[in-house]
Amino acid sequence: MLVAPSLLAADFGNLEREMQWFNQSSADYLHLDVMDGVFVPNISFGFPVLRRVAQLCQKPLDVHLMIVEPQKFISQVAQLGAHFMNVHFEALTHHHRVLQQIREAGLHPAVTLCPSTPVHMLEDIITEVDMVLLMSVNPGFGGQQFIPHTLEKVRQLRQLIADRGSHALIEIDGGVNHQTAPLLAEVGADVLVAGSYVFGVPNPQERIQELKSLG
Ligand code: DX5
Ligand code: ZN
Repeated sequence: MLVAPSLLAADFGNLEREMQWFNQSSADYLHLDVMDGVFVPNISFGFPVLRRVAQLCQKPLDVHLMIVEPQKFISQVAQLGAHFMNVHFEALTHHHRVLQQIREAGLHPAVTLCPSTPVHMLEDIITEVDMVLLMSVNPGFGGQQFIPHTLEKVRQLRQLIADRGSHALIEIDGGVNHQTAPLLAEVGADVLVAGSYVFGVPNPQERIQELKSLG
């Protein structure tokens, strides 16, 4: 299992210290939650913070943009040297064009679905993305409860990926913990985002390792 801890639950007064232990951990990516107060009912952090984090972090960045018009920020995300650029399906009209622009900018395009958006909406773009992020909570806040219907969506997405010959990874975001992670591994998730389960706890590295050791 690949693991992407979410900075949203970190101590923002001690980003340097948080990145020190994080760089030594077995995490695969750093997940960065950008919120604009329009697409989601909350505001998190923007590019000045992302730029500093990108300097401090030695692992690939997984940027999750919970914003309207994410296509306006492709070059800024590319300048961070990010790995994945996650854009919400619900925030776009011209999905195909934007995903291609993201790839042309040297980033790995990823598309994110809110809990209420069905998997079949991805039928015509599944071969354009390197990852699909299924939200297992309504985006905007950390520490929420996992929505069980996500498990069925992972199964449907696995099928769609196989049917279309896509290589996309399946990432899950929200409410990942010791109870939900094994269920997600069983249905075929590839990458788990974990915020409050990993940051702000006494034994973060153990928890990352525990998630990594799943299937
Ligand atoms: C929620 C964010 C998540 C959040 C997950 O809108 O996209 O990445 O940090 O937090 P937990 O793991 O605490 O549910
Ligand atoms: Zn996220």
